[in-house]
Amino acid sequence: MKISIVEKVKTPFVTKEAEIDSPMEHEVLINVKASGLCHSDAHLQQNDFGLYPFPIVMGHELAGVVESVGNRVTEFQVGDHVVGCLIQYCGECESCLSGHTHTCQHPEKTLRKPGDKPRLSMKDGSSLTQAFGLGGFAEKALVHQNQLAKIPKEMPFAQACLLGCGTVTGAGAIINTAKVRPGDSVAIIGAGGVGLNAVSGAKIAGATTIIVVDIQDDKLEFSKKFGATHIINSKNEDPIAKVMEITGVGVDAAFEVIGLPVTSKQALSMAKRGGSAYLIGMHTPGVQTEVDGTVDFIIPGRKLEGVMMGSSNLKRDIPMYANLYLQGRMNLDDLIHQEINIDDIQRAYDELDEGKIIGRSVVTSF
Ligand code: APR
Ligand code: ZN
Repeated sequence: MKISIVEKVKTPFVTKEAEIDSPMEHEVLINVKASGLCHSDAHLQQNDFGLYPFPIVMGHELAGVVESVGNRVTEFQVGDHVVGCLIQYCGECESCLSGHTHTCQHPEKTLRKPGDKPRLSMKDGSSLTQAFGLGGFAEKALVHQNQLAKIPKEMPFAQACLLGCGTVTGAGAIINTAKVRPGDSVAIIGAGGVGLNAVSGAKIAGATTIIVVDIQDDKLEFSKKFGATHIINSKNEDPIAKVMEITGVGVDAAFEVIGLPVTSKQALSMAKRGGSAYLIGMHTPGVQTEVDGTVDFIIPGRKLEGVMMGSSNLKRDIPMYANLYLQGRMNLDDLIHQEINIDDIQRAYDELDEGKIIGRSVVTSF
């Protein structure tokens, strides 16, 4: 089957032929119909986090059709439409049993054990790492059933695949982590694929002031299609002063959706007394953000929290977002900037780097 891999750190995505095994036990073989290009995969391409050995097959926003199932799969049948999610949970540990699957203590239980036949291998038999247990940049993917959610068949694949990362992360941070309430004020810094989903989440949660901060006017203007009520270009204006001007006191909750120290600090300073800031964007390992314990936290009584996958429960939340989309209450259509072929992944990531992508590129032909 066709697969797009990154052979070494900082090398481009290239299309190759690879072998995929048949499903074992709780695994599901999926015929991939759509796979989104999230910025996190570019981080994984450019930095060796020590998480995975290269070569790696990335692609963690995937949607497709179930082709076959392992002998212990009970939840899915051949022909079901599914979305993959990078939350890996065992379903048995204390975190999972108390409903916090996003902080599962044994995510490795969703993978094959050392010594088992690998799920994927190159034509010459050499090994290949499946990032996050998904590997959506391929014609087919072999995934543990705990990482999959069933979606209605009328849901289009390109929109559906975005639910697995961009939506659960962005909208989940607002709805699950921050528990934004009707009437709340929020600031979202970074209007990319994830940030726009946070804007949608804020609208669904009933926030009445939704301030979006970015450095590109086109992205800011675009965020209004998702529910932004105010936009700030932080290249031209001081975003903290502007948030104070709009709200009087700061926002109930501020979200950083880029992964930079400067914007993380801005998020903290935008939160009102007693308010909270949330870090969603992945920071480059080793890069530190300086905070002042007294001025930033103690006097204003603020909280800073890291957001893991929008604190989402994928089995509950992915079908919920699919239904909100089908009811016309969540904008996913405008998130799709372009549909591309698997051979064009590197080109589309270059365009993302150059700031040319407003929303997401999605692979829909293989
Ligand atoms: N200030 C404000 N906005 C900025 C700045 C800055 N200094 N630098 C970049 N941006 C904006 C970009 O213009 C862009 O709109 O941040 C946005 C980032 O969006 P994308 O590149 O589309 O990234 P996205 O896929 O949304 O991911 C954002 O979330 O899940 C994590 O790893 C992911 O770190 C990444 C982050
Ligand atoms: Zn992602």
